[in-house]
Amino acid sequence: MKPSPRPAVRKLAPYVPGRPIEEVEAQYGITGAVKLASNENPLGPSPKGMAAAVAATASIHLYPDGSGTFLRRALSERFGVPPDQILLGSGSCELIDIVIRAFVDPGEEVVVPAGIFRMFHVAVGRAGGTFVEVPTRPGHQPDIGAILRRVGPQTKVVAIANPNNPTGAYATNADLDEFFAGLPEHVVAVIDEAYFEFAKEAPDYPDALGYMTAGHNVAVLRTFSKIYGLAGLRIGYAFASPDVASAMNKVREPFNTTSPAQAAAIAALSDEEHCERTRTLVRAERAFLAAELTKRRAVVHPSLGNFLLVELPIPFAPVEPEFARRGVILRPMAGWGFPLAFRLSVGLHDENLRFLAVFDELLAAGRLGLAPATPPAE
Ligand SMILES: Cc1ncc(COP(=O)(O)O)c(C=O)c1O
Repeated sequence: MKPSPRPAVRKLAPYVPGRPIEEVEAQYGITGAVKLASNENPLGPSPKGMAAAVAATASIHLYPDGSGTFLRRALSERFGVPPDQILLGSGSCELIDIVIRAFVDPGEEVVVPAGIFRMFHVAVGRAGGTFVEVPTRPGHQPDIGAILRRVGPQTKVVAIANPNNPTGAYATNADLDEFFAGLPEHVVAVIDEAYFEFAKEAPDYPDALGYMTAGHNVAVLRTFSKIYGLAGLRIGYAFASPDVASAMNKVREPFNTTSPAQAAAIAALSDEEHCERTRTLVRAERAFLAAELTKRRAVVHPSLGNFLLVELPIPFAPVEPEFARRGVILRPMAGWGFPLAFRLSVGLHDENLRFLAVFDELLAAGRLGLAPATPPAE
């Protein structure tokens, strides 16, 4: 008889990450491909973070500080949250997994707005929980009333990615006020803020920490992968209410973040220059891409992140290899519930022009299902 994984594991479909540049180049025999598929920082890592990571390699023969004392202290000083309410994770993906493992038993529910970041689906599946997707409002904003109506005695967690990947949509101040006012006390709210540093410039983008301070059961998840450019080091953090933090800490691996990652994160946290350059670039290039794609009649969803969800009139999956063989790696969204869409990470201006040039070539060849009468890229 063959070994049999747990029933929950048998049902799991693994998370499919963006394809590495090297793999795509080898497949098509090309060089110089650009990857606009994983919402990374087009400007690269924070230089301060990178230098600190390199310096920290001198002590990689030692186990890291398992509780990340200095990084937690730095985060505590920056955001005014007590250190014992701060946890580190191997990316915020791990923190998603930790909070679900800490609270969800087989058969218990996690309620989310439909189209939420896919790792939630994976994490709930691993735990054997029931993943309940509540339809969103037009424009993909979470429908708070519908979410609250769906929460029941079996619901352990409600998660909202704010803004969400891939839709770019966000819950406003008013949305989260309504949400926390109506959320029963037995439920943990997980607010995933991977794009917080980009999103906070929107005037009605809410301060999720305020709800934690007000006594609600919350975990707010953030990451050094996006604006700080440290995705390869795998480091994220959570702010959580005391009881939630203590439960999460119990299921966390003792050495879940490395010493170079911790050192890089401390340095990157004070690299305001890199953050500002990134924000400025992303703001301008996101608007440029959205305008160019809209001119070409693709549907572009407004986004507070460093990416855009773009919809064609036809399924994107068969078109994806056409972009890839021309050296532009995009992320098809069929597996995330958006069969006509791809997610486009905002790149450097030249990378974005390269994407548009390939888009135009395929458009002219009638491969995108769009009418070809379009202006050329700038
Ligand atoms: C909404 C959201 N949450 C979490 C993550 C995970 O990021 P990381 O594990 O690199 O911190 C991502 C990454 O794309 C994301 O888009």
